[in-house]
Amino acid sequence: MKRFDAPVTSLRPIARDYFELRFAWKAEAGLPLPGAFLTVRAGGQYDPIVRRPFAFSCYAPDRGEAAFIFQKRGRGTAWLSGLRAGDSIDVLGPLGKGFSPPPPGSRPLLIGGGIGLGPMLYLAHQLAKEAARGSFEAPVLALGFRTEAQLPKLELPAGTVLCTDDGSAGFHGSVAEWLWSFDSSVPPALFACGPAPMMAAIDRYAAARNAPYQAATEQWMACGVGACAGCAIRLKDGSYKRVCADGPVFDGSLIAWED
Ligand SMILES: Cc1cc2nc3c(=O)[nH]c(=O)nc-3n(C[C@H](O)[C@H](O)[C@H](O)COP(=O)(O)OP(=O)(O)OC[C@H]3O[C@@H](n4cnc5c(N)ncnc54)[C@H](O)[C@@H]3O)c2cc1C
Ligand code: FES
Repeated sequence: MKRFDAPVTSLRPIARDYFELRFAWKAEAGLPLPGAFLTVRAGGQYDPIVRRPFAFSCYAPDRGEAAFIFQKRGRGTAWLSGLRAGDSIDVLGPLGKGFSPPPPGSRPLLIGGGIGLGPMLYLAHQLAKEAARGSFEAPVLALGFRTEAQLPKLELPAGTVLCTDDGSAGFHGSVAEWLWSFDSSVPPALFACGPAPMMAAIDRYAAARNAPYQAATEQWMACGVGACAGCAIRLKDGSYKRVCADGPVFDGSLIAWED
């Protein structure tokens, strides 16, 4: 993990209020793996003061470039959306624990809801390369959005399933509903990132199929490095974990999604 100033190599809109930001990655900082994240100073030196966390959506070591996909939500992301190639961002990372490999012989099912897209896309590319070596089946990526205007204009892996809540494109329904319709004769291994109701629905599916479930969580963060407990997430047994230091990827079956 390292803090460094990274030149922005490109910033492009990919859907309504969604952007992809690519920037130069310093190899000495470490490998930015799928599920891990970075924090960015998203604004001037003191405003906003708290760094903003984002999950990696790709890493291209040959180009020395990493990326994240973000949704414009408030002050920090509005500032990021105004950057241009050649500007510089203050980056701290890689942070947190990423995904573990799926069990041998399983079919990885990767579910992204809304802005959960970034880490799932990165994981899909990574697992597709590893699946080619034969220890598990090729991954299936399924992405859910409210409506067609949110579908990302990005090159997606072959066979990606797109779902919209309003039926304006792809499967009509939530990505969790699609999951129940997916006829998998191979034991599934679930990976997901998205809003809590979607994560809870996948927890129910994983329990019904007795399948492992790795969940990339999002929580408000302050320090981002395990020092303040500002990012605590509740588990079903009533205990708490810090998303930044203990996660952000957890065994999804342990999390109290329906709080
Ligand atoms: C580990 C981790 C990975 C993340 N990865 C991504 C990513 O890849 N892409 C992405 O777009 N966002 C990601 N987020 C969320 C992102 O950090 C927030 O959207 C961002 O900090 C908002 O900053 P802002 O200043 O624009 O918004 P603010 O002005 O701080 O808030 C604006 C609105 O955004 C909502 N919001 C802010 N932060 C969060 C949050 N952490 N969770 C849910 N709602 C929030 C609030 O409801 C608020 O109303 C991640 C968060 C974590 C903890
Ligand atoms: S944000 Fe401070 S402990 Fe996680």
